[in-house]
Amino acid sequence: MIIFYKTEEIETFILDLKSKHKTIGFVPTMGALHEGHVSLVKESKLVCDFTIVSVFVNPTQFNNIADFEKYPINSESDIKILQEIACDVLFLPTKEEIYTANYVFPKIDLGLLDQVLEGKHRPGHFKGVIQVVYRLFEIIRPTKAFFGLKDFQQLAVIKKMTDFFDFNIAIIPCKTIRENDGLAMSSRNMRLSQTQRIEALFIFESLILAKNLAPKLSPIECKKIIEDRYLESSLKLEYFEIINPESFEILITNWCENAVACAVAYVGDVRLIDNMVLN
Ligand code: PAF
Repeated sequence: MIIFYKTEEIETFILDLKSKHKTIGFVPTMGALHEGHVSLVKESKLVCDFTIVSVFVNPTQFNNIADFEKYPINSESDIKILQEIACDVLFLPTKEEIYTANYVFPKIDLGLLDQVLEGKHRPGHFKGVIQVVYRLFEIIRPTKAFFGLKDFQQLAVIKKMTDFFDFNIAIIPCKTIRENDGLAMSSRNMRLSQTQRIEALFIFESLILAKNLAPKLSPIECKKIIEDRYLESSLKLEYFEIINPESFEILITNWCENAVACAVAYVGDVRLIDNMVLN
């Protein structure tokens, strides 16, 4: 695996790949890699000639400074994991390589996407995600880019951005990878104590409960029952919403096809996110 730290160097390398008409698969990450990331890399390796992973903990997407400071960093283990799965290239830029002094940030109106769920609860978060993914897309110019469905709304934001700025990049959604008991894999899981790890399973269980309730109740009734269950748990629910997966409208009385339940809850001070298609 080749490791690049400098934008200029990886750009030269990519020019060469492009001149040889190689397809490039790209997996942007913030490191602390786990099986979820591994599945994205494997998917990319399956369908592209060359796979590039970036590891960059992007400061502009953290609306909470404590969350940024506590974000797990484990470069040595990341490199080892990527080598083991024969990733072709790792891009490990510094903040200065990504955000050059004269860099003009892209502007895009996300509409409802910025007003509900993560958009509502993490002001500025998607602006930061767009900044970094736009910049990485400019540098890497991949054929396909792979994102996990666990961050369901992020995927929609990135699709919108890719269309809006006419990037000729296929955005490939990849299924959420779960632990054996159902907990969605996340870099943040590394911060859970043993007890919290058990408690965190409640998020997955609440989504399963919603799936079971969906045929019998309206979305709002479903939401109410789930919210009450969280009150009895040790978790602090930030939001539980059932949405239309296309428009991101919150469903109240009527169901739509493939309605998605989106949950965010705190286990101690660790913020975890998950979602599930209900019908
Ligand atoms: O999903 C993530 O890990 C990040 O939001 C991303 C897409 C790598 C941008 O920093």
